[in-house]
Amino acid sequence: MTNVELMPARLFLSSGDLVADRRFEFARDLQLKGDLAAAADLLLQAIELAPRFASAWFTLGQIREQLGERDAAIAAFREARIADPDDRHGASLRLMLLGAEQLSAMPPAYVRALFDQYATKFESALVDDLGYRGPALLFKAVLAARHAVRKPAFFRRAIDLGCGTGLAATAFAREVDHFIGVDLSPRMIEKARATGLYAELEVNDMLEGLRGSREAGADLILAADAMVYVADLVPVLKEARRVLATGGLLAFTVETHNGDGVTIGAGLRYAHGTPHVRASIEAAGLSLSQLEVLSARNEDNVPVPGLVVVAAKS
Ligand SMILES: C[S@@+](CC[C@H](N)C(=O)[O-])C[C@H]1O[C@@H](n2cnc3c(N)ncnc32)[C@H](O)[C@@H]1O
Repeated sequence: MTNVELMPARLFLSSGDLVADRRFEFARDLQLKGDLAAAADLLLQAIELAPRFASAWFTLGQIREQLGERDAAIAAFREARIADPDDRHGASLRLMLLGAEQLSAMPPAYVRALFDQYATKFESALVDDLGYRGPALLFKAVLAARHAVRKPAFFRRAIDLGCGTGLAATAFAREVDHFIGVDLSPRMIEKARATGLYAELEVNDMLEGLRGSREAGADLILAADAMVYVADLVPVLKEARRVLATGGLLAFTVETHNGDGVTIGAGLRYAHGTPHVRASIEAAGLSLSQLEVLSARNEDNVPVPGLVVVAAKS
């Protein structure tokens, strides 16, 4: 089961034209029933009425992909992005997956739309259906890293990057005095606020959130299942180094693959190769304390290959 399949509802951006919107709805019904050719026809009719109908272009791209029409799918995804330059549907990711574009950053509006839709069922979907264990793995790894340098596992100020609904703060609650959460999705932040575990919460991109944090002001930075939405780790790791006090720790999970570099998977999440993770930590001026091959969650009941990483500012 992928991220996309877990989404409670497909993102729909109205065209502003009632007839075009209705054609879109019929097309979706036909798509779900498997009549892809008829669905594509209806979508083209909707697009004729409303040429800048991003949801119709995006769905047309998916149908063309299902039909094996790669070039036509690429053209439709490009139109979807022109119609919605913020790219809330994530057409860019589809283009990367199709090999039509180089791997690049995830559109923030896509991440926000995905998790805003996902927020109400996030914990049951992730924890119950996918056996999510990212925060528990980070907790064990941070305790081990502290134990190795004979320091207590107690932190005055911790920043939780991509905090979501607050599962990492729940795991670390007794070890942290002052928790700060940063997340792109306002709905996820609302859920995090409801836990009462965060002293501060900010709707922001994690890199921007770190940029706004004072130098050497944190002794722990966490990112549980959040770097999977970040293609280039180096800018975030560099900024984390600036924000950490000497001896402070950065702990994060990633999904991984056997090669080097960064790839994007069918679940529309990045996978970072182990050599790439090591090199990024070095480039950021951090020192690696722990790197373990451990999976934070399952897909189709199979553990997704992953890494649990702890780096220190020395
Ligand atoms: C799979 S959830 C994990 C949430 C939480 N850390 C946990 O362990 O349950 C990923 C979260 O990261 C957030 N996210 C993804 N990319 C982000 C970015 N660049 N800046 C801030 N938050 C981001 C998403 O909005 C989402 O809430």
